[in-house]
Amino acid sequence: MIIGICKETFPGERRVALIPDAVRRLTKLDLEVLVESGAGIAACISDAAYEEVGARLASSRAEVFAAADVVLQVRSLGANPEAAPSDLALMRSGQTIIGFSEPLSAPELVRDAGDTGVTSFAMELLPRITRAQSMDALSAMATVAGYKSALLAAEALPKMFPMFMTAAGTVKPAKVLVVGAGVAGLQAIATAKRLGAVVSAYDIRPAVKEQVESLGARFVEVELKAGDAESAGGYAKAMSEEFYGEQRKLMAKVVAESDVVITTAAVPGKTAPLLVTKAMVKGMTPGSVIVDLAAERGGNCELTKAGETVVEDGVSVLGPTNLPSTVPYHASQMYSKNISTLLAHLVKDGVLEMDLEDEITREMLLTHGGEVVQPQVRELLGLPEKDTRTEETSRDG
Ligand code: NAI
Repeated sequence: MIIGICKETFPGERRVALIPDAVRRLTKLDLEVLVESGAGIAACISDAAYEEVGARLASSRAEVFAAADVVLQVRSLGANPEAAPSDLALMRSGQTIIGFSEPLSAPELVRDAGDTGVTSFAMELLPRITRAQSMDALSAMATVAGYKSALLAAEALPKMFPMFMTAAGTVKPAKVLVVGAGVAGLQAIATAKRLGAVVSAYDIRPAVKEQVESLGARFVEVELKAGDAESAGGYAKAMSEEFYGEQRKLMAKVVAESDVVITTAAVPGKTAPLLVTKAMVKGMTPGSVIVDLAAERGGNCELTKAGETVVEDGVSVLGPTNLPSTVPYHASQMYSKNISTLLAHLVKDGVLEMDLEDEITREMLLTHGGEVVQPQVRELLGLPEKDTRTEETSRDG
């Protein structure tokens, strides 16, 4: 079975889906790897590095799609919407495509993929269960983004992060507040701590207090009754607008006292909760910095513009997007580990096995057998319900 890797085409994307280490691992499973020449260059990986571990090189994207049984991508379908139509024209029935796909924001591209007859999997639909942890690309990429958010804040702040006691006087450490202590938030806390800032954090899930404190940060206690804010899966639940209003009121003081606010608050499947208003930004000292990691999902700050820096009342509000791509070497290393582990999970005896009894396979599957099978995407497209579990296990490739 041939595994194809193409150069990523989303504007500014520097990651690559598979690094040479993973190629070595896949060839041991009797899989052949075909890499488009130049696919790894932006992540500092040469064609020669792929060839050394047994990959073959292809001279074009079309050659990879024509030969590969499985194409591994960082951004596929809705995660690369402008290029998706030209990729769809290269896809063929019986082929499998795996990558971030943003199926719920671009369901029509999933329908088009179904029409080509490809089997497609969305990396973001991986169930967050223990045995799937090493395949969890969303968490891996949030780790990179959380780390980078603290660096961006340190770079933009007209102050230094650590305390200095020098002959020229004492410099006070910067105060950093992290709102939302999930995967990205915990990394932002750890990185800001390593840089010497005084860090505090808040999350509506009280369960994370211990994790925040274990990183040496202070957990901000606010008088909010958020006891049932956690879903069974360990995620935050969507709360009422009244709740968020109360939260904003209670957080205003701690935001005003902070030099840096890094916001990462997210509720699965919802737009990001608005937690920092224009008035709260006005209350901050000029020179302060907000880094809003939720920019792409509507933003946690009222002033955030995705992909831009807005300066208002002397406060810089950064809305960075695609941060993992700014650390392409390690982001690719982590993504490659996630996607190759998933592939190894799907392959039995050198061929892809569609075991729909398996939770991982079933949850991530978007299209199969010429149609859309993902329930939420079917609903968005106005298609009738369909239970994938009643399908038989099949072997492709
Ligand atoms: P996560 O689900 O692990 O963490 C989100 C946290 O926000 C949870 O701990 C949750 O309890 C908390 N939260 C929800 N509502 C809250 C509220 N009202 N107040 C305080 N905390 C609240 O998500 P993860 O993976 O850490 O991602 C965080 C955000 O970063 C997401 O919006 C994600 O899309 C974004 N992200 C951005 C990237 C970029 O390049 N800009 C890259 C990767 C992720």
